[in-house]
Amino acid sequence: MSNKHQIDENVEAIRQRFGDAFPKTALVLGSGLGPYGDSVSQDAVIPYTDIPHFPQPSVEGHAGRMIIGTVEGTPLVCLQGRMHLYEGHSAQELAIPVRTLKRLGVETLILTNAAGSLDTNMSPGSLMMIEDHINLSGHNPLTGPNDFAFGVRFPDMTEAYDKELRTLLQQAAGECSVKLYSGVYAQLAGPSFETPAEIRMFGIIGANAVGMSTVPETIVARHCGIRVAAVSLITNLAAGLAGHELTHEDTIDVADSAYENVSLLLNTFIAKL
Ligand code: HPA
Repeated sequence: MSNKHQIDENVEAIRQRFGDAFPKTALVLGSGLGPYGDSVSQDAVIPYTDIPHFPQPSVEGHAGRMIIGTVEGTPLVCLQGRMHLYEGHSAQELAIPVRTLKRLGVETLILTNAAGSLDTNMSPGSLMMIEDHINLSGHNPLTGPNDFAFGVRFPDMTEAYDKELRTLLQQAAGECSVKLYSGVYAQLAGPSFETPAEIRMFGIIGANAVGMSTVPETIVARHCGIRVAAVSLITNLAAGLAGHELTHEDTIDVADSAYENVSLLLNTFIAKL
């Protein structure tokens, strides 16, 4: 079955549960940030298992539910649980959720993730607005025949992270007194963490933080004209900078302890949309 029919069937399944007045803003919750979805005033909760062609998340810290509701009065759809290349999903499968949102009328996509920092000043618990990315995953979700119903064959990525949204994010951070760094996010496929030599190389080529997600969703969103804002929660100093080994449990623990700041920033930002 083609991607197009899969998306039509997803849209149909979601509309049956929620009707037509779908939010124009979507938020993808990264590792450890799932609890934010529970703070949204919820009008509908749709498990991904009820959406026929949604890839299913398999990682601890990723629930797998679409939550439709409001934050500070702004209608919002949350994807509580994201899918990654390292789970075995193809880059093309990762296009399905974003394209489903597009067909439901979403115009703005907020992406969050957990990331390792290449800057020792940007310590665990810090928040970094993504101003640009480097795709080191070896994959692109647009590989294969282009679906011109979504966008052009060779989409521009000059302003992948929307300038106006970046300004609003900075304003929101100022208003709620949350320090917000700004930097370049490099995506690796994972699931192994990087080596110290790789981290030194990524620093040289201009990365400020490193992680295993976000870039596929950004590329798919930009291709179909959705504007993107993205925030990394720094959960650790990258390999070789921390002086200890990296674990996913640390990622989740730091995400838990930084949750208040993330939640404040997201609430303030979303209220501006
Ligand atoms: N590397 C890759 N992905 C990550 C990291 C990291 O150090 N921390 C959280 N996600």
